[in-house]
Amino acid sequence: MLRNTHVPDATYRAFTDLVQRRSGIVLGPDKRSMLQARLQNLAGDCGYDDLGAFLDHLLAGRSEALVVDAIERLTTNHTYFWREPVHFELFRDQVVPELMEDLRRPGPRVWCAASSTGQEPWIIAGILQDACPALGTRGAILASDLSMEVLEVAKQGVYPDADVKRLPEAMRRRWMRDRADGKWEIAAHLRGDIAWRTVNLIAPNYAMASGLHAVFCRNVLIYFDSPTRAAVIRRLGSHLRPGGWLFLSMTEGMPEDAGAWTRIAPGAWRKSA
Ligand SMILES: C[S@@+](CC[C@H](N)C(=O)[O-])C[C@H]1O[C@@H](n2cnc3c(N)ncnc32)[C@H](O)[C@@H]1O
Repeated sequence: MLRNTHVPDATYRAFTDLVQRRSGIVLGPDKRSMLQARLQNLAGDCGYDDLGAFLDHLLAGRSEALVVDAIERLTTNHTYFWREPVHFELFRDQVVPELMEDLRRPGPRVWCAASSTGQEPWIIAGILQDACPALGTRGAILASDLSMEVLEVAKQGVYPDADVKRLPEAMRRRWMRDRADGKWEIAAHLRGDIAWRTVNLIAPNYAMASGLHAVFCRNVLIYFDSPTRAAVIRRLGSHLRPGGWLFLSMTEGMPEDAGAWTRIAPGAWRKSA
């Protein structure tokens, strides 16, 4: 049982530096109570009664698995079906018609680069299947995240009603099955379309296909500092074909030094040829 959740300043700074080096996520001084709330159970489960002592243990570098677990608890995984739908509408109306011919050869066409628990890539799979059911969209989508834990949930493809309620009913009926326990399950015909893997966006290189038609990287770069945001966008761009689409969150601007892009709509960009 944790008795002391106070974290000394030096430990807080050293630990948040470690989190930033490993994930890109910047935790300023205002995130102290969030960190305390999210890590206290982990510290208690590991037998610590003092959160600062637990963070010192992580900083000593002798428990890689615990560091990964702590970082996963500090990341925000919140997502839901049909978030920022204007991007899915652009994808359906403008990207899919361009990539249909290309689907005849095998390989990925779209990368969902911080997919969390999978709601975003399953929508992309639904849209692709609706547009070209006969073409074989198997493996056409890559979905990745830093966290293996969220990817496990994503692969299961089972969601509570609260996650699904904003998805228009016609799509929900086409792409999901309702279960006896009141949850929703991704339909069998979409299940082969996505390849899942862990990718850390701040890694210097991604082992990832290039020549992609679209990359979704929404609601994650907001947690990084501005040089990291620009560097990640440049790297994402290198995996897109000229004219390929990049979807960031609607509230996110394009950093100046992030390469050459044309703005199409809020958060929607095309790589300049
Ligand atoms: C808020 S969710 C966004 C989910 C979805 N893209 C959306 O817009 O709803 C942010 C995701 O980014 C992931 N993430 C954080 N840092 C990352 C990194 N360095 N590399 C890859 N993914 C990261 C988190 O694990 C989390 O699942």
